[in-house]
Amino acid sequence: MQNKLISLVTKSVKQSKNHLFSAIQPARYLKGLSKQKIGGGKTVLITGASSGLGEGMAKLFAKLGYNLAICARRTDRLESLKTELMAQYPDIRIEYRMLDVSDYDAIFKVFDAFAADFGHIDRVVVNAGIGDSRRIGKGRFDTNRRTVEINFISALAQCEAAMNIFRAQNSGHLVVISSMSAMRGLPKHLTAYGASKAGLAHLAEGIRADMLLTKLPIKVSTIYPGYIRTEINENAKPLPFEVDADTGTKAIIAAIEAGVDEACVPSLPWSIVGQAMKHLPLQIVNKVS
Ligand SMILES: NC(=O)c1ccc[n+]([C@@H]2O[C@H](COP(=O)([O-])OP(=O)(O)OC[C@H]3O[C@@H](n4cnc5c(N)ncnc54)[C@H](OP(=O)(O)O)[C@@H]3O)[C@@H](O)[C@H]2O)c1
Repeated sequence: MQNKLISLVTKSVKQSKNHLFSAIQPARYLKGLSKQKIGGGKTVLITGASSGLGEGMAKLFAKLGYNLAICARRTDRLESLKTELMAQYPDIRIEYRMLDVSDYDAIFKVFDAFAADFGHIDRVVVNAGIGDSRRIGKGRFDTNRRTVEINFISALAQCEAAMNIFRAQNSGHLVVISSMSAMRGLPKHLTAYGASKAGLAHLAEGIRADMLLTKLPIKVSTIYPGYIRTEINENAKPLPFEVDADTGTKAIIAAIEAGVDEACVPSLPWSIVGQAMKHLPLQIVNKVS
């Protein structure tokens, strides 16, 4: 009993140290993992891999030695990404497929086809998303509905498809890309977008709770990125605490590899801002929107 307790405490201290290192020095943390080729033989499926964070994650996972199952609507971009990465990392396997996540049936077909291709999917990153919402009550229900459908309903379908595969394998790691805008209700163009990302974060937490309850060895991570400059915000004026795609993607991958349940990225300042957002009055929270 005593030995079991000591081993549990040691494990949890090691895990906390790992989480802290990955959060404070993501680039250094990843360098270490890259030397170990931590992904060797494992496969990561990423949706929305044709640009921005999805493309950046694909590049970093390839560097860590993972095989890649990538999808999006713009297959020309996936093709060039595959060509670029195969030249750099000839030992990994990369397959791509066209997927429009608004076609829910297609999500299940594409995920299952990837699982058949590779025989095993170790991680699924639910990343495809859009940021195109508008003030509520200004006649743009069409835009807001589409944002909520893509960022929440399509993400639900991706979680369902991923969990089908993981339950059959009795293993896997589900990662969802939420947003710092999920922390509180936000004004202007962020209202429906933030709500969709809050829904996604809650969904992931529910799946995590279910895995604890049923003792299934499937990990669930929720990533809350702050402002990262990509196509989703390419026309926006300078954003609070914004970072470039390379910095942002490294912070995301470090958190995923550390196996966190939840992480605000980059950790500084967003883990502190996140706490503040949860507790401060709305007038102050409005400043980050
Ligand atoms: N950048 C940020 O500041 C930030 C902050 C918080 C959260 N996020 C989240 O991070 C994720 C990635 O965004 P990003 O910044 O990398 O933006 P991005 O460069 O615009 O990438 C979005 C990706 O989603 C895919 N996508 C969009 N609609 C799709 C559809 N109907 N079917 C399939 N794929 C679709 C796009 O691929 P195709 O167009 O080729 O289909 C693209 O690969 C999103 O979920 C976003 O909400 C971003």
